[in-house]
Amino acid sequence: MSKVIVIYHSQQFGDTKILAEVLAEGVREAGAEVEIISTNERRITLDEFLAADGVALGTPDYFSYIAGTIKTFFDDIYLWDKSGESVKGKPAVLFFSHGGGGRGREPFENLAGKFFEQVGVTVESRRPTGDEAKEQCRTLGRELVKKVPLKILP
Ligand SMILES: Cc1cc2nc3c(=O)[nH]c(=O)nc-3n(C[C@H](O)[C@H](O)[C@H](O)COP(=O)(O)O)c2cc1C
Repeated sequence: MSKVIVIYHSQQFGDTKILAEVLAEGVREAGAEVEIISTNERRITLDEFLAADGVALGTPDYFSYIAGTIKTFFDDIYLWDKSGESVKGKPAVLFFSHGGGGRGREPFENLAGKFFEQVGVTVESRRPTGDEAKEQCRTLGRELVKKVPLKILP
């Protein structure tokens, strides 16, 4: 079975966490295994990252940028890549929550574009999280599973 990891930061109201959980439901509905990792609880390991066929990344907009722990995640991938690990090119979907500015979108997409093949359109949600953004995340989770490499069972 294909495996997707949902990696997100959420701290202030839980908006990004709601989006991460609905997106994970979409992944499960499409038939893939999913693991959810909160980057303000812990860092993702290289082995966990390598084991993922697809990635969903979520952040709040912090100062028109991404959350610090998601930046650390990108820093980690950069360093893994520089040390010769095969970390580039996984399919990924992006989602973020903001308080009305939303200018974090561009740096988020730019950084993700260095390491991932983006699937679909970034879900942008102005808080408080509404049903429309939740449905967009569910759909994005399903779309991601269609793009992950097929695993042939022995
Ligand atoms: C430190 C900090 C900086 C923020 N900066 C911005 C910002 O530049 N633009 C914006 O639209 N919202 C900003 N916000 C609002 C959050 O993006 C918004 O409340 C988001 O929904 C929080 O997500 P969470 O509940 O998952 O933590 C900021 C919030 C915090 C705590």
